[in-house]
Amino acid sequence: MPMAVNTFLEEYDFEGKIIAPFCTHGGSGLGSSVTDIEKLCPDAETADGLAVYGLRADQAGEQVAEWLEKLGLYGENQDREEEIQE
Ligand SMILES: Cc1cc2nc3c(=O)[nH]c(=O)nc-3n(C[C@H](O)[C@H](O)[C@H](O)COP(=O)(O)O)c2cc1C
Repeated sequence: MPMAVNTFLEEYDFEGKIIAPFCTHGGSGLGSSVTDIEKLCPDAETADGLAVYGLRADQAGEQVAEWLEKLGLYGENQDREEEIQE
């Protein structure tokens, strides 16, 4: 994970938030990013991440929409925010 993202996660309070990790990559995928985020933000819910191959990022629109929809953060299933506030 880029150090700038580490710094961002350290500086702000993510309690009660859903973190949806995503990245572009050249073969390493998300690496250890998801477990690193979970350690840095234990009071947040870290959702399943999405890794998009960098050279195909311009064709990833549908993949991103499907991922967000599966998480309930986009489209018809967009109800996760209510769930977490209950
Ligand atoms: C110096 C450098 C090293 C990189 N090393 C890796 C790597 O080891 N594994 C990987 O998955 N991506 C690596 N990347 C990232 C991808 O090659 C690619 O740059 C990225 O996914 C595309 O996103 P960008 O447009 O933000 O660069 C590296 C990028 C740079 C600039």
